[in-house]
Amino acid sequence: MFNYHNPSKIIFETGILKNKKKLKEVIGGGDYCIFTYSDKVFQEYSNQIVNALGEPKLIINNILPNPDYKNLREISELFSLKCSKIKFAIALGGGSVIDTAKFIVLGKGNFDKTIEYVEKKVSSFPPTDIDLISIPTTAGTGSELTCWATIWDEENQRKHSLIHQSLFSKLSIFDSELTLSLPKKITIETSLDAMSHSFESIWNINSNPVSNIHARNSINIILKNLPQLVKDLKNIKLREEIMKASMSAGLAFSNTKTAISHSISYPITLKYKVPHGIACSFTLPIILKSVQGLDKTCDNNFKSLFPDFENAPNQLKNFFKELEVSTNFKDYIGNANDWDLIVKDAFGGERGKNFIGSYKKVLEAQESLGY
Ligand SMILES: NC(=O)c1ccc[n+]([C@@H]2O[C@H](COP(=O)([O-])OP(=O)(O)OC[C@H]3O[C@@H](n4cnc5c(N)ncnc54)[C@H](O)[C@@H]3O)[C@@H](O)[C@H]2O)c1
Ligand SMILES: [Fe+2]
Repeated sequence: MFNYHNPSKIIFETGILKNKKKLKEVIGGGDYCIFTYSDKVFQEYSNQIVNALGEPKLIINNILPNPDYKNLREISELFSLKCSKIKFAIALGGGSVIDTAKFIVLGKGNFDKTIEYVEKKVSSFPPTDIDLISIPTTAGTGSELTCWATIWDEENQRKHSLIHQSLFSKLSIFDSELTLSLPKKITIETSLDAMSHSFESIWNINSNPVSNIHARNSINIILKNLPQLVKDLKNIKLREEIMKASMSAGLAFSNTKTAISHSISYPITLKYKVPHGIACSFTLPIILKSVQGLDKTCDNNFKSLFPDFENAPNQLKNFFKELEVSTNFKDYIGNANDWDLIVKDAFGGERGKNFIGSYKKVLEAQESLGY
């Protein structure tokens, strides 16, 4: 028995943001606001939305990477003054923008009340009546297809998950043209985040036949296309492929959540400032090695992706090498004792508990791969 649920409507159309008539047709009318970044390229993208839909009540463009308490408090105040009665909110950006929009839209700008829920001091929260429309500008986080947001409390070195069923985007618009402006570094980081979501949804106690199809599809596309894309960043066909991969990863892990690689990643991002996409993916070869032979379905998923199954962890290691991303923890953490503690703690974390493997197997895999 299994079940699968994802209520987000998907529109995948390259160039749709520039198409005024089509954009108005798919989004509709009513009072709205836009969440986005402050950079020039996003001003242009926001203008295209305003040209199609008319003036919004507010454009929130002071969003910073990794939504943090400080930034969320400021945005909450602004939002509650102008937007408590809006019909929908457009999140135009990467995971940080979409996750910020989720936090604000759920609490309608009531920071303290939403934080109580985030910190699990209260167990329930009323659903939001503001529709979320997500337009991802990275091909990466999949946040446009999940009902949760990652909220960072840097001051206290903590990370929280905000989870609510009403936070599924009503509509997710995938316009691969928006990712053409991504520099090489962010292209690699965000694509590896998507790849990690897919691996993590396979070695996951919540995996199911539908999530596995999406996950395999996503990994296959990234392995084939990402090395080419980093050499040809303006290639729209390759951008479309990676966008499809990120979308498929979202469809996979929206039903399973992530697992041990993400659990390991959070302190590495908080303490060592390693970008999310690298922190959550450089462990994939070790974790893959550690699950080999543990579960028949998991093995079969990976056998279909890596016909030379025995050698799959090394193949994955080489894939990272080609992208010039280290898979050696010493390049991120330095101290082997700290690393051991991080890995051990990760098994007790919320996401770590989704992993089908064990601490012992991960240590064995690490040694056998020569780290
Ligand atoms: N809710 C979820 O399901 C989920 C899943 C994974 C990650 N996340 C979260 O998402 C965040 C990371 O998001 P991200 O990796 O998409 O990056 P991001 O949103 O933090 O953006 C990173 C940088 O990329 C730039 N950028 C984004 N799009 C661009 C474009 N088209 N052109 C040029 N520059 C662009 C931004 O200005 C920013 O400086 C983390 O906080 C992570 O925890 C959430
Ligand atoms: Fe992630």
